Amino acid sequence: MATTRTFSIIKPDATRRNLTGAVTKMLEDAGLRVVASKRIRMTREQAEGFYAVHRERPFFGELVDFMISGPVVVQVLEGEDAVRRNREVMGATNPNDADEGTIRKTFAESIEANTVHGSDSDENAATEIAFFFKEDEITG
Ligand code: CMP
Repeated sequence: MATTRTFSIIKPDATRRNLTGAVTKMLEDAGLRVVASKRIRMTREQAEGFYAVHRERPFFGELVDFMISGPVVVQVLEGEDAVRRNREVMGATNPNDADEGTIRKTFAESIEANTVHGSDSDENAATEIAFFFKEDEITG
């Protein structure tokens, strides 16, 4: 299996509770390497653009409000089959459904304040990485 990249966001519920390091350690322990990372405060326009695929969902407005409610840490992760590996360590979107030992089971507060985002396909990973990073900001 090839080394690939995925995109991760450590969400405002986690930065608020000072969990950036704890979450990153779980990602690293799962075999992922942080090859780019920056702490930012998303603008409303960025959050709406990033989550545009969910625009018609009833939770869209609350999701955008939450994502701009505090700083986030956007990261590029590299590893063998990185998208799948990251989704395994993140756990299910709803922490009530997440397996023991996953990031969301360990830290998430709710389906909205669920600590991390991770890309769901290689194609979306490339799009999401390009949304926040220039290629020369990514280094293994
Ligand atoms: P994420 O992986 O960032 O992608 C979309 C986000 O929408 C998801 O994580 C959740 O945080 C959020 N989300 C999904 N379903 C719901 C829901 N039913 N209610 C509120 N937020 C949701």
